[in-house]
Amino acid sequence: MIHIWSEAAELNDELRDRILSHRQSNAGERKTNIGGWHSDAGRLEFCGDAGRRLLRYMYDLTDEATRRVLAEFGQPMQPFRWTLYAWANVNGPGDFNRTHTHPGSTWSGTYYVDTGQLNDDEGGAPLHLLDPCQGRANMFLPPLVPSSFTQRPEPGMTAVFPSYLPHMVYPHRGALPRISIAFNARKEPFP
Ligand SMILES: [Fe+2]
Repeated sequence: MIHIWSEAAELNDELRDRILSHRQSNAGERKTNIGGWHSDAGRLEFCGDAGRRLLRYMYDLTDEATRRVLAEFGQPMQPFRWTLYAWANVNGPGDFNRTHTHPGSTWSGTYYVDTGQLNDDEGGAPLHLLDPCQGRANMFLPPLVPSSFTQRPEPGMTAVFPSYLPHMVYPHRGALPRISIAFNARKEPFP
């Protein structure tokens, strides 16, 4: 699911400044990032009020994605309880994220603060999502489903996807930092 946050234009400058400031004093974690900086995961305390508002939005997106899937199966929305945590990513030139899934989570998503491009025509480093059942695209009525899906980011956009989907981020080609905030939402009780 792709969605554009209505508060992005108001808050992205603050999010960018706070994330880059937090990076100055925190070494970050080594996760799926090859190069780049991955913040500690939590409740975006280092993003202040903008972080709190973004977290609320992430809960809304999680509910909306759930509602859409349940509707596809003819089921009404259910009041699931979520454990949600988020972290910031800053990729510099050449940095990327290797293929991975997010075990222990139901939904994952990435919000884009800044694509790090000087020239918007170049676009940002895409997110690449892979169907874990490759035989589906190759063997079962091939035109129906793609084997993978590529999403080019833009500031204010969030991509939400099931946490079991393998995904990776292409090497960043922009001159400025590519800044995103990712989250995991786990249905409680899990699964
Ligand atoms: Fe990821």
